[in-house]
Amino acid sequence: MIADLNDKIVSLSKRRGFVFPSSEIYGGAGSTWDFGPLGVELKNNVKRAWWRAMVQLREDVVGIDAAILMHPRVWEASGHVENFTDPLVECANCKKRYRLDELSEGAGGPCPNCGLKKLGEPRRFNLMFKTFVGPVEDSASIAWLRPETAQGIFVNFENVQQSMRRRLPFGIAQIGKSFRNEITPGNFIFRSREFEQMEMQYFCRPAEAPRLYDEWMATRREWFRRLAGHDELFRFREHGDDERAHYAARAFDIEFQFPFGWKELEGIHNRTDFDLRRHSEFSGKDLRYFDDATNERFIPYVVETAVGADRATFAFMCAAYDEEPDKEGIRTVLRLHRDLAPYKVAVLPLSKKPELSELARRVWADLRPEFMTTYDETQAIGRRYRRQDEIGTPLCVTVDFDSLTDQQVTIRDRDDMSQVRVGIPELLPALREKLRA
Ligand code: GAP
Repeated sequence: MIADLNDKIVSLSKRRGFVFPSSEIYGGAGSTWDFGPLGVELKNNVKRAWWRAMVQLREDVVGIDAAILMHPRVWEASGHVENFTDPLVECANCKKRYRLDELSEGAGGPCPNCGLKKLGEPRRFNLMFKTFVGPVEDSASIAWLRPETAQGIFVNFENVQQSMRRRLPFGIAQIGKSFRNEITPGNFIFRSREFEQMEMQYFCRPAEAPRLYDEWMATRREWFRRLAGHDELFRFREHGDDERAHYAARAFDIEFQFPFGWKELEGIHNRTDFDLRRHSEFSGKDLRYFDDATNERFIPYVVETAVGADRATFAFMCAAYDEEPDKEGIRTVLRLHRDLAPYKVAVLPLSKKPELSELARRVWADLRPEFMTTYDETQAIGRRYRRQDEIGTPLCVTVDFDSLTDQQVTIRDRDDMSQVRVGIPELLPALREKLRA
């Protein structure tokens, strides 16, 4: 792994407009982050790639976009009010707070901050953010910011199944914000208090769940392999009995080798009929599915795939980051998959001379309806190639003085730095071809 990779990604993110600390001019807002112009492109591309693979290319999955604020009973039924807690330990001396599992010697050991053995008894801390709906702050107006998008899918199971005339097995996918009042957020955008999730609930007959679970594990691993390469940076880890979430009968993480170690990237859970059964009980609505093949009514099982869009974006950046020696020192290249790269093409006139700028801007205007592009005419061409390499732009189009007479331009490839010359009329199909390859 590249030395100091985490610091390099954080610095690149700030310097090149991927990710900024939220409310930075006020000193930051406690592990919340803002995606800048390049970061929003990259994260949107991650979400688009997920939606394409999980919804668009499948016959058996449809999407929804549910509200963040839901009926408070949802979170009682889901078990989050009671169980969505972390054990919190506070130091009586320096007041620093820890999750119990972060303390190597437990609550009986010294405080990692002040060193005194003044840690208190662990207490259960609920990670949900509480707010109030309407002008009165009383118990009748409590609302929770959702800690997972999944519940918006469970409460819409019947609406989707009936309106879309779906038969088991089928899935419902969703991308949206989730909120967790993490005790110790950190590691850049790996763990924050506000983040986006990409979740899919696959409803099936109970007996089919184990087979479908294995299929979804393979499907999701393959998605990362296709977009990140480097299969060696991903692995599966099964949760032990003591770490599974309250709803999961079986749980695997897809872990990624982040610069700070192997960590969860995606969770794949067999949630059994837990959520639909609880929503039936709490809402009084019969959420059983009628199977017209067997004339049976039952509550479907659910295989869930759940990944953070921010965390996946971070993982793709880590996997793509590369440095190689060149004659000017070190060439930094973000070898992002072309589907993820913020810009697909950069147009670079060799110099700022008005006649070159004019032609280059015409070329740029022709490309904009088709690709996310950028234009750069400042500094030497070598420096400009390096700037595009660092943000992952797969192709540069250079307009030079010969272009004025022969109407040809040069396409330069980020990865192998090869250059080919093509006629301007052939440029669009040539770029399409290269970006498909
Ligand atoms: N619906 C199941 C669920 O939410 P999870 O394992 O708690 O399962 C799924 O979360 C994914 O959401 C994680 O694998 C991670 O990618 C992302 N995630 C969870 N908490 C996060 C946080 N505080 N910051 C960023 N991403 C987070």
